[in-house]
Amino acid sequence: MQGGKRILLVIGGGIAAYKSLELIREIRKRGGTVRCILTKAGEQFVTPLSVSSLSGDKVYGDLFSLTDEAEMGHIELSRAADLVVVAPATADLMAKAANGLANDLASTALLATDKPVLFAPAMNVRMWLHPAVQRNVDALRRDGALFVGPDEGEMACGEFGPGRMAEPARIADAVDRALSGPAAGPLAGKRILVTSGPTHEPIDPVRYIANRSSGKQGHAIARAAAAAGADVTLVSGPVALPDPPGMRVIRVETARDMLGAVESALPADAAVFCAAVADWRAAEQGAQKIKKTGAAPSPLALAENPDILATIARRERGRPALVVGFAAETESVIEHAKVKLAKKGCDWIVANDVGAEDGVMGGDSNTVHLVGPAGVESWPTMDKARVAERLVERIAAALAEDGRA
Ligand code: CTP
Repeated sequence: MQGGKRILLVIGGGIAAYKSLELIREIRKRGGTVRCILTKAGEQFVTPLSVSSLSGDKVYGDLFSLTDEAEMGHIELSRAADLVVVAPATADLMAKAANGLANDLASTALLATDKPVLFAPAMNVRMWLHPAVQRNVDALRRDGALFVGPDEGEMACGEFGPGRMAEPARIADAVDRALSGPAAGPLAGKRILVTSGPTHEPIDPVRYIANRSSGKQGHAIARAAAAAGADVTLVSGPVALPDPPGMRVIRVETARDMLGAVESALPADAAVFCAAVADWRAAEQGAQKIKKTGAAPSPLALAENPDILATIARRERGRPALVVGFAAETESVIEHAKVKLAKKGCDWIVANDVGAEDGVMGGDSNTVHLVGPAGVESWPTMDKARVAERLVERIAAALAEDGRA
C-alpha cells in the first residue's frame, strides 16, 4: 500500500523510541521509504547509527547544521515527504507543534510542512491525562492532525493506563490509511448521522433549561467517522467546540430543532444519537424577560420534548440500518441500558456511568458498555477519541456485515 510513498519520521525522546526502529522496518517492508529526524532527546534512547542503518538514509538532527542545510534544508525536508509521522510523539513535541514553536529541527519541520501529520503519542498516563496535554491534542486535531493511540496497558514506568505508544504494525496501518485518504476508509461511501451536545430550551429571552453535556464525545465520533471515510452530518446543540472539518455541521438549539435537522439529514446508513437532549421544555416561552413580582413564583409548567432517538429508531421507512443510542446513567448502568434499548427500539446502546467517575461530562475520558441484542461488552476507560474510533470500527464492521447479508 505504501509503494513509493515517502515518510518523514520524527523520533522524539521517549522510551517507546525503540519501537520506532521496528516502525521503520514495517514501513519499508510495505514499500515506503523513510527519512528520519531524531531529536536530541530521542538520541538518549536510540542511536543515529541504528536509525540510519534501518532507514538506509542519513539521519537529520541539527537545525543549524551547515552540511545538512546545504544538502537538504529543513523546509525541503518537511515537504519532500507524503506524510510526516511523529513517533513517539512526546508531550513536549506535541506542545511545540500545537503552539507553533520552532526551536529545533523537529519542531521547525512540523511547522514548515504542508503535508498531513500523524502523531503516535507515548508518555506516562498522568502526563497523557494532564489537561495541558489534552488541550494540545485537541488543538492539533482541530488543525487537522491525525492520531494513532496511545494504547492502554502497563508502561515502562510501572504504571497502568492510556499512554503506551501504539504497536508499530498499528501505526503502519494508520500510515496506510493516511496515505490513501478517507476515500479508502472502512466507512467510504457510507452516510453517518451524529447528534452531539446538549439542547437549550428557552424559558424566556434570557433563560433556558440545559444540561452539562460538552459535545466532546459526539464530536469525536463524528470526527472518527469522517476519518474512516464516511459522509458525515453532525447535528450539534450549543457547544463551545469548533465545527470539525470535513463534514456537514448543522447547529441547533432546542430538541425540536434537533429533530427537524435530523430528519432533514436522513437517509443515513447509521445514526449515532449522542446528544443529551432535554426531555422537557417550558410549556410556554415568555415573550419578555420574566420579572420578580414579590409574590411566590409560580411553578414552571413543562411540556415533553419529542424523543429523537425513538422517533428515528421506530420509523417504518427510511430507518438507518444501524441506530445507536447513548445512555448516561448514575446507577445500575447496564440494567437501565437494557431497558432503554428495548424502550427506544434502537440496535445498540452505549451506556456510560456519569456518576462513578468525576468529570465524565465535560471531561476527556469515558468508561462505556456497548449493549446490544447479543449481550454487553464493557470497554476499559479510554479517552473519548479512542472510544469514538472503537465505536466507528464496530459500526463499519456491522454495516459491512449488513451489506453481505
Ligand atoms: N434522546 C433523544 N431525544 C430525547 C431524549 C433522549 O434522542 N428527547 C436520546 C439521547 O441522544 C440518547 C438516548 O436517547 O441517545 C438516551 O437518552 P436519556 O435521556 O438517557 O434517556 P431517557 O429516555 O430520557 O431516560 P432517562 O432520562 O429516564 O434516563
